[in-house]
Amino acid sequence: MTLINEKKVTLETEIRNFLTSTANNFDTLKYLYNTTPENFVASQTPIYYSGPYWDNEEIVAIMKAVLSGQWITSGESVHKFEEQFSKQFNIKHSVMVNSGSSANLVMVGAVKKYLEWQDNDEIILSVVGFPTTLAPILQHNLKPVFIDIELNSLNFDLELIEEKITNKTKAIFLSPVLGNPPNMDRLLTICEKYNLQLLLDNCDSLGSTWQGQYLNEYAIASSCSFYPAHHISTGEGGMVSSNVKEIVSIVRSLAYWGRDCYCVGAANLLPCGTCGNRFDRWLPDYDGIVDHKYIFTNIGYNLKPLDLQGAIGLVQLKKFAEIDRKRRYSKQRLQTILEQYVEGIRVPNELPKAETCWFGTPIICPDRESKRSLVEYFEQNKIQTRNYFAGNILLQPAYKHLEQAANYPNANIVLDRVFFIGAAPHYHEKIFDYVEKLLIAK
Ligand SMILES: Cc1ncc(COP(=O)(O)O)c(C=O)c1O
Repeated sequence: MTLINEKKVTLETEIRNFLTSTANNFDTLKYLYNTTPENFVASQTPIYYSGPYWDNEEIVAIMKAVLSGQWITSGESVHKFEEQFSKQFNIKHSVMVNSGSSANLVMVGAVKKYLEWQDNDEIILSVVGFPTTLAPILQHNLKPVFIDIELNSLNFDLELIEEKITNKTKAIFLSPVLGNPPNMDRLLTICEKYNLQLLLDNCDSLGSTWQGQYLNEYAIASSCSFYPAHHISTGEGGMVSSNVKEIVSIVRSLAYWGRDCYCVGAANLLPCGTCGNRFDRWLPDYDGIVDHKYIFTNIGYNLKPLDLQGAIGLVQLKKFAEIDRKRRYSKQRLQTILEQYVEGIRVPNELPKAETCWFGTPIICPDRESKRSLVEYFEQNKIQTRNYFAGNILLQPAYKHLEQAANYPNANIVLDRVFFIGAAPHYHEKIFDYVEKLLIAK
């Protein structure tokens, strides 16, 4: 035991020494992503819309995970991250996967199986959003039913939902726009009235609350992304969370080849498995002994993350409160500047019961030309901008066969008039001053 501990201390010390001795390289990493005030040169340093909020602690975690040689693929760090994530966001169970898109894919598949939804059952969602909120509905033979957006928050218009509900409607799939929730009281009332489930794509809204509760607490299941633009990042990565143990078990099975075995982390090494019955008569149509690790109860995928991603996640969770506070602050500062100096634009606000952990700072322009010129001005001056994702998704080649985009007039203004800049946690006063001067000069 002492020996192992000594070895771990030595490894960590060696990693830290290595990082210190190559400090210049790691300054570059900081420069790229953290844009520290010391490194910031107005008009030259790019202001990324987001990026991993990492420092040497994440690098130490990655190197320790790899160099300890204990796990390469999902192991103890992923397992600990799943447990810590659940605890931190007040949810009972979570499974980590390799992306937010994978999380949506297995979440929809698991809830469909658990609730025995049939092919062509209907799922309601916004017509504006990210493609892999929609894609899993189609991939699991369900039918998307689209709702147009309202122009205050850009979320789907809650007043248009009821007219789209049929006896085949099973769920409403919410994906809050850049983290900002719609009126959750109204949404939950609709769900209750029509006996619908609430599914949550929480990829952009991790940490956002409604009446003091995380949004994931209101949903039967929620997904999350750890791509670098998101609130916490593990490089790539995602999570599915639910209070329903069976849903999360199906999620794990779907992400792990469809297997029945539910050993996680170190339990994978138990001779008799977590079930205590690893070698048994598992197959009803075969009378021999079979290893539970090779029993397949679902038609699955392999969407497992690497253990080093779990190790990064554990470090990131410790920073979440700081990230949350800084994202809210960045959005507020940029909103004040934008509203003061750019005529005619609007930046959506949160509703009184919401506290939004902003993914970005949305900007609604008065017309197509003002968006074009503002985007061009920002980009030319090193401030990254982004579209609000796909815009009306029915304009996109992959989805245009589903329905006429013209049926959703508000959604059609998104490509014309909406874009966003960051609300990143690494922004600082020099950046805010620079943006302000830039907009005064426009
Ligand atoms: C709302 C939403 N859902 C899903 C995803 C997909 O996440 P990932 O890039 O981790 O696959 C994203 C990505 O940015 C997103 O914004």
